[in-house]
Amino acid sequence: MSWQYTDLLSHPLWFACTVLLAAVTRAQRRGRWNPGACAVKLNGKTAIVTGANTGIGKFIALDLARRGARVILACRSKDRGTGALNEIRKLSGNQDVHLRLVDTSSLESVRKFAAQILEEEKELHILVNNAGASGLPKGMTADGLDITFATNHVGPFLLTNLLKKKLLIRKLHHISQFHSPARIVNVSSANHWRGKVDFSHFRGENLVYTMDAVYNHTKLHNIIWTNELARRLKGTDVTANSLHPGIVMTEVMRHYNFVVRLIFNMVGFFFFKSSEEGAVSTIYCAVSEDTEGITGKYFDSDCSLVLPAPLARDPALGAKAFEHCERLTAKL
Ligand SMILES: *[C@@H]1O[C@H](CO)[C@@H](O)[C@H](O)[C@H]1NC(C)=O
Ligand SMILES: *[C@@H]1O[C@H](CO)[C@@H](O)[C@H](O)[C@H]1NC(C)=O
Repeated sequence: MSWQYTDLLSHPLWFACTVLLAAVTRAQRRGRWNPGACAVKLNGKTAIVTGANTGIGKFIALDLARRGARVILACRSKDRGTGALNEIRKLSGNQDVHLRLVDTSSLESVRKFAAQILEEEKELHILVNNAGASGLPKGMTADGLDITFATNHVGPFLLTNLLKKKLLIRKLHHISQFHSPARIVNVSSANHWRGKVDFSHFRGENLVYTMDAVYNHTKLHNIIWTNELARRLKGTDVTANSLHPGIVMTEVMRHYNFVVRLIFNMVGFFFFKSSEEGAVSTIYCAVSEDTEGITGKYFDSDCSLVLPAPLARDPALGAKAFEHCERLTAKL
C-alpha cells in the first residue's frame, strides 16, 4: 500500500494533530510580548549592544535606535559593523548610532573598548551582552583562555565590570529624569541546562569539544554570573537579567560545517525563530515597563519569567564563579 503525505490530512485525528502542531509552532514563534506594541521611548538614553552587526544583535540595536536611544554597536569587524551601522541609521532614521570595535575574546581589546566608552560617554543606561559564538574550533587566546569561554563569558564579564561605573553614576547623582533605571541584559540560552561547572574549563582544561558542549558551559556561566552580579548590585538602581532568545537561525551557526548548517536551516524553517523574533526577549528585558526593577532573573524566549537550572541559582557558586573571573581578568 502506498503512502502519501496528503493521507495525514484525510484522517480527522491526523488532521487535528497537524493543526495542533502548526498552532504550537506558531505560538512558539510569536511569543507573548510584542515590541511593536511597546511605546517606551529611550530619548536621551545610551545603549551598548555587543555583536550588533548581525543576527539578533542587529535587531536589538535597531529596536533601541527606533526608540530614540543613542546606540553604540560594539562589533568585531569594521566592515560588517559599518554595514549594520548604515542599515540601522537608515531604517530607524536615528543618526545617533555609532560603531565601536571590540573583540570580546581578547581582554586587551575589551579594556581598550571600555576605556574609550568611559571617556566618550557621559552615561550608560542599557548594556546588552549579546556577542557570543558556538561551534568555534578548539583554541586558546593570548590570555591563556579557552576561546569560547573568552568570547562568551570572560570577555563580557570584564566588559560589564569595567562599564559598571558608568551605569552606577546615575545612582550616585540620582538625576531621575528617566523612569527606568539602568539595565544590564545578558543573552544566555536554554542550552545552559546541559552545561557543567568546572573552573579548569576556563583555561581550556578538561574540555570535551563535541558540538555545543563548550557553548552550553559558557551559557550556564552567563546566568550564574548575571545572578551574582544582580546580588552585588542590590541597593542600586541597576538591574541585571539573562534570557533565552529561542532557537534562532543566526550566524552563531557560521562555524559549523555545511551539512550541519543545511540541516539546521531546513528544520529551522519550520520550527525556529528568525533573528527578528529572537531579539524580542532581549528587547523585553532591556526596555519593557514589565521588567522595570526586576533583577537577577531569567526569561524564556517568549518573555516568560522562568527558573534557570539549579546551578545557576546557587549563590555560593555564584560568588565563587565571580571571584574566579575577577582573578582571571585582574591586571597584573
Ligand atoms: C553576561 O554574561 C557574561 C558572562 O557572564 C558576563 O560576563 C557578562 O558579563 C554578563 N553580563 C551580564 C550582563 O550578565
Ligand atoms: C547542549 O545543549 C543542547 C540544548 O539543551 C543539547 O541539545 C545538547 O545536547 C547539549 N550539548 C552537549 C554536548 O551537552
